[in-house]
Amino acid sequence: MRTLNCANGDRLPALGLGTWKSDPGEVYQAVREAIRIGYRHIDCAAIYGNEKEIGQALADAMRASEVQRSELWITSKLWNDSHKKEQVRPALVNTLADLQLDYLDLYLIHWPVAFRNGVSFPHSRDDFLTLDEVPLTETWSGMEACVDEHLVRHIGTSNCSARKLQLLLEAGRIRPSVDQVEMHPLLQQGKLKRYCDREHVVLTAYSPLGSRDRNPAFRAKDEPDMLEIEVIRKLAAAHAATPAQILLAWAVNRGTSVIPKSVNPQRLQLNFDAAAIELNSTEMNLIDGLDRHYRYVTGSFFAGKNSPYTIGGIWDE
Ligand code: A2P
Repeated sequence: MRTLNCANGDRLPALGLGTWKSDPGEVYQAVREAIRIGYRHIDCAAIYGNEKEIGQALADAMRASEVQRSELWITSKLWNDSHKKEQVRPALVNTLADLQLDYLDLYLIHWPVAFRNGVSFPHSRDDFLTLDEVPLTETWSGMEACVDEHLVRHIGTSNCSARKLQLLLEAGRIRPSVDQVEMHPLLQQGKLKRYCDREHVVLTAYSPLGSRDRNPAFRAKDEPDMLEIEVIRKLAAAHAATPAQILLAWAVNRGTSVIPKSVNPQRLQLNFDAAAIELNSTEMNLIDGLDRHYRYVTGSFFAGKNSPYTIGGIWDE
């Protein structure tokens, strides 16, 4: 498996297992199977509601000597209701207990959006806190304190623009190691990628296959299907691969990490194998031509008339 260098020399496996939308009843087997296949990077989050099952799978895999803790890269994410400095550590400690781990490799601020403590999803204006009330820099200092205590080796962000990363780089003691954002051929994030390359921040791509198993309430009717794009299909045929594998190979060949979600053993294997597919510069250029700044995950669930946040403000665009 290819790896990406963090600024301090630690290495992040380029392709990891996504667990968003993996139900508690199916994620245990998915993680066990992924580890048998060779996955060493697992992407989790408290809000996914499945960290206990993932923790059990990790513990059982280690007990069966299929993998050692030091070989794994485990990421989790701080939910929006725990952005106050003193709330970060308890949230991380809960996640560690659920995952049955002593430390995380990476802990991310999940969204640049804050809620009152205890709110999973906001229903009214009162459920939100603004970034003036809880600045991201305050949350960041809570994250830094967790690094000082060796509860986590790296900290970073998710869904953050270059502008927000820059704020943290300027105000923080510890640099963000990773920013995790939606990224695929229809949303290539060129500006953010150039910024992250320059600042030695690893970019991780979520929803690399378009997350077709998302809640239908948040899916556009005319959502494009990336597996049907002609250029992708032709490249798949040329490599005796599947369209999904080409999407994943593009992310890895571009020097980003990528976390496809699957709970299906065959697709777990196909996705893992995709990291070894080499695309030449002509093929990469063909895919680069597909960019149209299309978001599947628009952030609209955190914006609207009951929210102090706007979609433009979340993405800084
Ligand atoms: P499943 O879990 O049944 O494999 P994303 O990673 O963009 O969120 O996409 C996840 C969705 O893509 C899930 O519906 C998942 O279904 C499906 N999926 C995962 N791997 C593949 C693949 N290799 N080919 C087609 N669909 C896939």
